[in-house]
Amino acid sequence: MCYAIPGNVKSIANNLITIDYFGEERKARNDFYNLRVGDYVYAQGGFVVQKIDEKDAEEILDTWKELFFELKETDVRLSKLYNDKPNLDKNFLKIIDRATYGKSISRQEALRLLLSEDPDETDVLHKSANFIRQKFLGNACCVHGIIEFSNICNCLCTYCGINSANTSLKRFSLDHKEILDVVADAVKRFGFKGIVLQSGEDPSHKSEDIIDLVKKIRENSPVFIFLSIGEREEAFYQRAFDAGARAVLFRFETSDQNLYSKLHPHSSLRERIRYLELFKDIGYIIATGSLIGLPGQKAESVINDFMFAKDLGCDMYSFGTFIPHPDTPLSSHDAPNTEYVLKALSVLRLIDPYGKILVTTALESQNPQARRLALMGGANSIMLNLTPKDYVGLYDIYPHRATVDVSVEYQIEDALQLLKSIGRAPTDLGI
Ligand code: 5AD
Repeated sequence: MCYAIPGNVKSIANNLITIDYFGEERKARNDFYNLRVGDYVYAQGGFVVQKIDEKDAEEILDTWKELFFELKETDVRLSKLYNDKPNLDKNFLKIIDRATYGKSISRQEALRLLLSEDPDETDVLHKSANFIRQKFLGNACCVHGIIEFSNICNCLCTYCGINSANTSLKRFSLDHKEILDVVADAVKRFGFKGIVLQSGEDPSHKSEDIIDLVKKIRENSPVFIFLSIGEREEAFYQRAFDAGARAVLFRFETSDQNLYSKLHPHSSLRERIRYLELFKDIGYIIATGSLIGLPGQKAESVINDFMFAKDLGCDMYSFGTFIPHPDTPLSSHDAPNTEYVLKALSVLRLIDPYGKILVTTALESQNPQARRLALMGGANSIMLNLTPKDYVGLYDIYPHRATVDVSVEYQIEDALQLLKSIGRAPTDLGI
């Protein structure tokens, strides 16, 4: 099972290296290995995550060779842009046109696209987003695995099923041996190159222990580590970085100050943003975003969230669908429809041609076709769930999560089949 293609080191300039993949060159940062030109490595998220043996690399490259070019061809074919709709609004076409050249679009223009209810325009929007993704990012698709290791949470987020006020939920917390076992399995048996460690804000996992966990993971399993454990004391994040974590998944949830305060009685937007700035300063890769379809959220607010994430220097956009949870104060509200969220993701691709866009599990939970549709509308990243089956159902942030009750093997097979059918390589080659 390969989620990455080994690359050959072409040149080294301090900790920035150039890697060759079948004639294509990419850059990646090397923080962990002593490398020489000619070595083989795996890169993920713009970082070298593993150095590999030449013989092993050549064997793997041999199996990839034909497929690598085949997938590219399929992708180019499926992402061609042609306008077979003669009567589209000129203003709409102007925006699309500029975006396809990689030019930035304004807040007003983005809003114009998101508010469109014309099915022909929506169709062209999705196709353009897919074209832009192909043109600027190629066919690489990140496939990360997420381990939800504790549903204990101190927070009171009014949309979230694991918020501390929900007393009807059975709580769980994996110990470090269990987490290490899941990671080792993910990396060694299933071949994952990127993993996300996620939990509620659980004080029983002491900062010291998490740093130790990160170190142990780096020692035992070469993998790109995302932390998604919420707000902790500032010094923790620098120390976790020093221990080997390289990315954080940390949503700001909404950039609308009033809405933020209503939804998060325990915290402030300003504090949330301060964390994101801190992560950036430390050097983390940032995955962030908000919830789409929150009660009281207008389309303007969604566009503001996109612009806000872009201005923050977000590397991977994680914009999920709000899904009402029955045991929360927002239980009586409706989820937005899938089409609206898909449209929003395509607009996001026009706003940022270069960032990674994640298809969230929440969107996938709404509609079994959503992953394919999002990938065909500008997205280029997915996450599979590695949480052990005895616990995954208890990580009940919203009801009917798509990956509950599905084995890791099945998720991998399903994802690879889909990616192959649309010409995407389950890889993340670097920048
Ligand atoms: N619907 C969708 N996403 C939710 N999250 C929490 N509750 C919900 C919900 N009801 C998301 C939050 C958080 C992530 C871990 O889960 O955005 O950042």
